[in-house]
Amino acid sequence: MSPAMEPAEGSHLDALAYLECAMGLLGSVLLKLVRSAYGRYASPRPACRVPARAAWALQELPSLAVPLWVCARTAAERLRHAPNRVLLAMFLVHYAQRSLIFPFLIRGGKPMPLYTCTLAFMFCVYNGYLQSRYLSQYAVYADDWVTDPRFLVGFCLWLIGMLINIHSDHILRNLRKPGETGYKIPRGGLFEYVTAANYFGEVVEWCGYALASWSIQGGAFAAFTFCILVSRAQQHHQWYLERFEDYPKFRKIIIPFLL
Ligand SMILES: NC(=O)c1ccc[n+]([C@@H]2O[C@H](COP(=O)([O-])OP(=O)(O)OC[C@H]3O[C@@H](n4cnc5c(N)ncnc54)[C@H](OP(=O)(O)O)[C@@H]3O)[C@@H](O)[C@H]2O)c1
Repeated sequence: MSPAMEPAEGSHLDALAYLECAMGLLGSVLLKLVRSAYGRYASPRPACRVPARAAWALQELPSLAVPLWVCARTAAERLRHAPNRVLLAMFLVHYAQRSLIFPFLIRGGKPMPLYTCTLAFMFCVYNGYLQSRYLSQYAVYADDWVTDPRFLVGFCLWLIGMLINIHSDHILRNLRKPGETGYKIPRGGLFEYVTAANYFGEVVEWCGYALASWSIQGGAFAAFTFCILVSRAQQHHQWYLERFEDYPKFRKIIIPFLL
């Protein structure tokens, strides 16, 4: 979508989106060289760690707070239009769940290294600003965009992806009884087909958002998520195969029947 005014900042937001794609690619290369450093891979004695619940709540909160701040402190003129409001709401609904609900449901989560938490926090500030500034100030949609097939298919993918993500996280959480911290083979739902069903849901969700927003900014976020989560899913898959002799060999890594 083309910027309505101040084209300089519009192209600045495009540049930030391309940079986000580059960060995703760089992140996936780095994750192949060095294992991601939280959860099951966290070193038992890193210099500084944040309890899992506090880490998730704090690091994800900017994705909620920054858009609210952007909308409150700027003219947010494009939010007079329904498509912009719906798209921003899709982003906020996900992050309300991720920062205000998900952390408090975690069971026995491993403390997060401070630097991982800091990197995630910085990404959430960056991406929260990028998505909200674009949707509130620049994105121009026809008023009937919400009936366009790209929006409708994208919205359905976003919703289905979010439900898969939440359901799969629920399955993982319930593998542990209160007080347990160990790992078991996940069963049920899309875990019957892939190792990282929760990541599959998240990837579908942001691909749907990208399609519905039909923007470089939405596409960049989906690409970033894909790069990071495919790398982490590959590590999880290998980890299960090494640790559990009876791990189902037919399970794919992240995309049912494909990858
Ligand atoms: N958009 C993005 O770029 C992005 C990036 C990262 C994460 N996320 C999302 O954030 C959420 C959490 O991500 P994550 O990387 O922490 O997911 P994860 O590694 O699958 O772990 C999720 C939770 O389940 C527990 N768990 C995982 N496997 C288990 C098993 N086999 N047995 C018992 N407990 C198990 C973990 O405990 P431990 O902590 O003790 O391992 C953790 O509390 C997901 O929904 C993911 O999609 C999004």
